[in-house]
Amino acid sequence: MILTKEQQAILDGEKGETLAKVMKTLIKYGEVFGAEKMVPVTGKHNHLVTSFGLKALGPVYDLMDQLIASGDVSKQTFSVDPRPLDKKVPANFLQNFIFKNFMYSRQDFYETQLGKLGLMEKDAFTCTCYMDEVGNKPNKGDVLSWAESSAVVYANSVLGARCNRNSGIMDIMGSVVGYVPYFGLLTDEGRRATWLIDIRTTKKPEAQLLGSAIGMKVMEEVPYVVGLDKWLGTELTDSVCTYLKDFGAATASNGAVGLYHIDKLTPEAKEMGMNLLTENVKTYVIDDAELERVYKEYPIIWKDPAAKPKLCFMGCPHMSLQQLKDWTDKVEAGLKSSGKKKVVIPTVFTASPAVLKEFEKTEYAQRLKATGVITSYICPLMYMNNPLSGKMPVITSSNKLRTYTTARYYTDDEILEQITKGGNGK
Ligand code: F3S
Repeated sequence: MILTKEQQAILDGEKGETLAKVMKTLIKYGEVFGAEKMVPVTGKHNHLVTSFGLKALGPVYDLMDQLIASGDVSKQTFSVDPRPLDKKVPANFLQNFIFKNFMYSRQDFYETQLGKLGLMEKDAFTCTCYMDEVGNKPNKGDVLSWAESSAVVYANSVLGARCNRNSGIMDIMGSVVGYVPYFGLLTDEGRRATWLIDIRTTKKPEAQLLGSAIGMKVMEEVPYVVGLDKWLGTELTDSVCTYLKDFGAATASNGAVGLYHIDKLTPEAKEMGMNLLTENVKTYVIDDAELERVYKEYPIIWKDPAAKPKLCFMGCPHMSLQQLKDWTDKVEAGLKSSGKKKVVIPTVFTASPAVLKEFEKTEYAQRLKATGVITSYICPLMYMNNPLSGKMPVITSSNKLRTYTTARYYTDDEILEQITKGGNGK
């Protein structure tokens, strides 16, 4: 690794022992991936993945304490992934007991540490930090030190920022020292596509299903998608960005995609087009039958596959303001056609505190409340990590939640039918 004078000085301990250790760790991390230099982290804010005060994270709290004590806090302020708990989300006495005493017992302590380290603001807890309401939206070309997979893939693909799929803790280290190793998705070569994805569906593909199919096929490689502009157009409008948010999260969780290009739409594809493809590119054709095949092959891991759902989670990643409004309309229309007043399955829509605050200012908030849907800033995955939640029949249209928990995936239309009519959605 070739270091600049300043980087060498940090490594030699001229800025203190703690920062030297952090630099050493990042260099070792880069060397594993063949990085030959370190580059500055840019942008005003960072984003951290570790948002939960899990009892077992003792070494993390020690590291945080060391950073705080040595004054080596990040020059950037940061947002952080969603909180793991929210009283508004239905949970029984035992579930709450486990959450509080065995799982997230150090939440308050950890949030105090985050505050000292540079949390943007008290409620900056969300995985969709790049939304306007939250205010952590990187610029094209910014070098980031993020780890949340759904945010990394969005920042790289839709915003044109540059970030590897780092791990938790590595994200804060890069931000504190101000440098990250230069490899992978930070380089021009690493951003070229090795897969050409040809979309030939007869209708707009479900974002979370399409992302899942692509993720499982390309794994950690970079896909270049053609044929989607037919359904999405060629401008990054609010609804297109929402689609890409959900699509990207599925590619990142069902595979390990950190960057995708959409022909005629995403920034680098607009600039370079097919020149982004490497030689020997592989091809994957997706039509209606292929999406159906992918959907049918999802394993159902409920103890009783015919169980009546006890909970529905929507918003993983967190919903946008427009998504909340659109779903308010959809739920109302669904209830009207079924002649019901309230949703028949307890349903939680999740969004960032900042988006929820804006939503509350609109007339939609009262309308949604009247349907019985609960809004929350929680991370559904952290709720599902509770062994008792894992035994519940939970439904979702999030392919990330399906992948990491026992929650069962349904398309948006099927979810709507289940929560407003009580059918099984199929
Ligand atoms: Fe966000 Fe939690 Fe889902 S971090 S993407 S809501 S698993």
